Amino acid sequence: MSTNPSAEETAPYGTGPGGNAPAKPVRKVRTHHLREMKHRGDKITMLTSYDMYSAQIFDEAGVDLLLVGDSASNNVLGNETSLPVTVDELLPLTRAVSRSVKRAMVVGDLPFGSYQASPEQGYLTAVRFMKEAGAHCVKLEGGAEMAPVIKKLVEGGIPVIAHIGFTPQSEHVLGGYRVQGRGDTSDRIIDDAKAVQEAGAFAVVMEMVPGDVAAQITKELEIPTIGIGAGPDCDGQVLVWQDAFGMRDGKMARFVKQYADVKSVLSEGAEAYISDVKGSTFPGPEHTF
Ligand code: KIV
Repeated sequence: MSTNPSAEETAPYGTGPGGNAPAKPVRKVRTHHLREMKHRGDKITMLTSYDMYSAQIFDEAGVDLLLVGDSASNNVLGNETSLPVTVDELLPLTRAVSRSVKRAMVVGDLPFGSYQASPEQGYLTAVRFMKEAGAHCVKLEGGAEMAPVIKKLVEGGIPVIAHIGFTPQSEHVLGGYRVQGRGDTSDRIIDDAKAVQEAGAFAVVMEMVPGDVAAQITKELEIPTIGIGAGPDCDGQVLVWQDAFGMRDGKMARFVKQYADVKSVLSEGAEAYISDVKGSTFPGPEHTF
């Protein structure tokens, strides 16, 4: 890694197949870029990623942030929810993603139970994501009640994205997957947004918040808002890639749009491979030494 920031920030994107494609300059996405994007009205894009190849593909496509979400629990590790995943399980996934990007900001996601006990616990966990896994910042769930944790992390040199509205780690307190901030409860979400900004968060994810409430928060905050099920007026959007690109089928949340059908591509590939092996048409002479 270069110690010269200007060299690092203009490193070539890659030369492409055969080394002939023109090198595109890369500027690493930094927290101030996201704030500038908000003020220019340039939408911010974020996707989850949990491995090397998806990280490379999404980074080269130009996504601004890659979230190594605790959603790895139910998208990679076979659990039903995000609750069981541990710090020790998320660190190697985060490391794989941060090693694989050139431009995108990599967000380590603090899992359930790894920061709620105290600001000190949160700080020590976040340090592991930064030092051991190369995350560029961390995300944690919670609003006003998490302000002391956010403050501690930011004062200790760790950029923080807050996550308010529906917070999946608190599913059992919130009574299941429900839109938060409807009707009379909108004030609480607005207060949460202001509290996390005041505590020093540089951005806030809003999950399953009514569009008009998310729009008001986006207008009132200086920091960027990134929505998931929070309507079109947020400063950016985030989706779990397995949902967005059709790695799985089954029931999807209403806020998901499916942009690709990766599951069909993989199924067809696997079926063709099985058929070739069973029919003795693979390997052919061209695959044989
Ligand atoms: O873990 C995750 O994927 C998330 C997104 C839903 C924002 O927190």
